[in-house]
Formats: sequence, C-alpha cells, structure tokens
Amino acid sequence: MLEIKHLKKHFGGVKAVDGSNFTVKEKTITALIGPNGAGKSTVFNLVSGILKADSGEIHFKKKEITNWQPEKISNLGISRLFQQPTLFSNLTVQENLLLALEKEDTKFWKNLAGKNNVSKEQKQLVKKTLELVSMEKFEQKLARELSFGQKRLVELARAILKPHSFLMLDEPVGGVNPKIRKEIATILLRLKKQGETILLIEHDMNFTLGIADTVIVMDEGKVIAEGKPKSIKKNPKVLEAYLGE
Ligand SMILES: Nc1ncnc2c1ncn2[C@@H]1O[C@H](COP(=O)(O)OP(=O)(O)OP(=O)(O)O)[C@@H](O)[C@H]1O
Ligand SMILES: [Mg+2]
Repeated sequence: MLEIKHLKKHFGGVKAVDGSNFTVKEKTITALIGPNGAGKSTVFNLVSGILKADSGEIHFKKKEITNWQPEKISNLGISRLFQQPTLFSNLTVQENLLLALEKEDTKFWKNLAGKNNVSKEQKQLVKKTLELVSMEKFEQKLARELSFGQKRLVELARAILKPHSFLMLDEPVGGVNPKIRKEIATILLRLKKQGETILLIEHDMNFTLGIADTVIVMDEGKVIAEGKPKSIKKNPKVLEAYLGE
C-alpha cells in the first residue's frame, strides 16, 4: 500500500532521514520504532506532505505522491495522528471532530462563522466514532477539560472519522496510562479486523510487539531491521541501537 524508496531529508547538517526504504502491506499493522531522533516523525511528515523530501520516492497505492501538497495527500485517504496534541482547547469534543469533516481549505472559517452547515448525518457520524473509542459521554466537554489520555482518544477518533484507507499514528499511547493504552490496542486490532491499514510509531516495545504484524526499526535516519515482532526482539542490531541510546 505504501512504498518508501531511498527517501532522504536533512535539516542543515542533520541527516534526519538518510536513504530509508520500506513498505507497508495492506490490511496490516506495521510499527515504526527506533530511538529518539531516529527520523520516524520526519518520515511521517514526508509521507503526509508537510515536509518536502530532498530525494527519493513515496508511492501510495502504486501512485507516486512524493512532495504532493498535504491536502491532496489527505484527500487520497491518508489520515494521521500527530505526536503533539492538536485539539482546539476552547472547542468542544464534538466541534473538534466536526472540523475534521470539512474540506481542508474552507473548514476553519466556515465553522467559525456558524454551525448551520453541519448536517444531522455528520453529527451522527461524530457520535458513532466517539462510541468507538468510548468517549461519547464527553462530546459536549471542552477539549481543555479532558485528561491527556482522553485527548488522545479523541484525537484517535478524529483520525478515524475522516474517510481514509490508511492510518498513520505517531505515538498513539505516548504518555497515556495503562488502562487507556490497553483500550487503544483493542481499538487498533478491531480496526485491522475491519480491513484498515495502520502504520504506527511507538516507543513502548510491549505495546508494539503485542499488536504489530511487521516491525520496521530506524536508527540515525536509516532502516536497520525489518521483520516479525519476535525476530526483531532478538535482533542484535536493534538491541544495540536501543542500548546505545
Ligand atoms: N523541523 C526540523 N528542523 C530541524 N531539525 C529537525 C526538524 N524535525 C526533526 N529534526 C531533527 O531530525 C532528527 C529526526 O527527528 P524526528 O522527529 O524525525 O525523530 P523521531 O524518530 O520521531 O524521534 P522521537 O522518538 O523523539 O519522536 C532529529 O535529530 C531532529 O532534531
Ligand atoms: Mg517523533
């Protein structure tokens, strides 16, 4: 579904992504792991078009999408959860999700101007998606009133809500308590069962190894290992990259 070929991106002297190659198969959960600063989020930013690659190629569903505009990539069906929280704190959970349903270029101003253009169907969809992450009770709460883990669940709902065929999640359980962590693992496995393709970045090895079909390990901008969770766990190169952190 996604193919990364010889991808490179540097920031000044820092080779954040240094000739990475990997593929993500349809209807699987693939985990991208590696020490801090390995280049994982930069790969996500390149795939979603937020950053422009220096060289290399990105293919999605056999189409080359390297350096396309973010809106165009999003409209292809690539949905994303950011590493940093991105909810509007003074809007309700429902309002935050409704914003995600609008077309990228007009959504913000249209929604600020009034909510009359929100359809019953859209509201229904928001409610159903919140139920998926067990957050329906918080629909009318302001985002700033939620705990960190609850915000993460709402952000996950927002990523699922948009029509998509590929989910990219940057540390969905980073800083989240064990109970919500477990909930998120269950949600992701359920989504996979429903035919979704998921690429996730995660530091928690147990979480990753528990749900991923394939694990890709990055270190210093390069892919140093790729395989099934069990083999990755024992891979000397991987152990060295982590212990050398
Ligand atoms: N916008 C930027 N400007 C300058 N340097 C950047 C920028 N984004 C990332 N970098 C650098 O590129 C390298 C890779 O960063 P990246 O955020 O991709 O790592 P990561 O694997 O996601 O790390 P973490 O696990 O800590 O989130 C780091 O050395 C980082 O400092
Ligand atoms: Mg990161």
